[in-house]
Amino acid sequence: MNIKLFVIIVLLTTLSSCNNDSTSDLTTPTNNTVTIKYSTDIASIINSNCLNCHASPPINGAPMQLTTYDDVKNAILTRGLIDRVSRAQGSGGMMPDAGTRLPQATIDKIIKWQTDGFVN
Ligand code: HEC
Repeated sequence: MNIKLFVIIVLLTTLSSCNNDSTSDLTTPTNNTVTIKYSTDIASIINSNCLNCHASPPINGAPMQLTTYDDVKNAILTRGLIDRVSRAQGSGGMMPDAGTRLPQATIDKIIKWQTDGFVN
């Protein structure tokens, strides 16, 4: 066989065996074996969804800031943060205020952060 043709066939065979059928190697938010951490998981969720009001100092009528590890942990322990983000879209008091409810997988991450013991 022509060596070039052989190389092309090997390359095509290798490439065509790459597929995206499998989701098992993707990190899923509900993966119970991975510890949820403030630094790698929670801070970015709060940054993108809450800090336009819960800034330091808080604005738009928000009663407290959520800019540090302690702020977010305390809001879960004493201000019902998980209840607020879990409320149904359109029901009173759902956070982000006047926004879109977080995806359930994101809410589950916050819940798991608490279950995992608020790892920083
Ligand atoms: C558009 C502004 C805005 C955004 C964005 C926002 N909040 Fe709020 N938040 C408020 C306001 C205003 C209040 C006070 C009114 C109320 O309690 O509903 C509040 C209240 C809260 C409270 C209750 C505090 C208490 O002591 O009663 C929690 C907890 C909370 N927010 C968490 C969050 C979280 C978590 C996010 C992001 C997922 C978020 N908020 C996004 C404006 C906002």
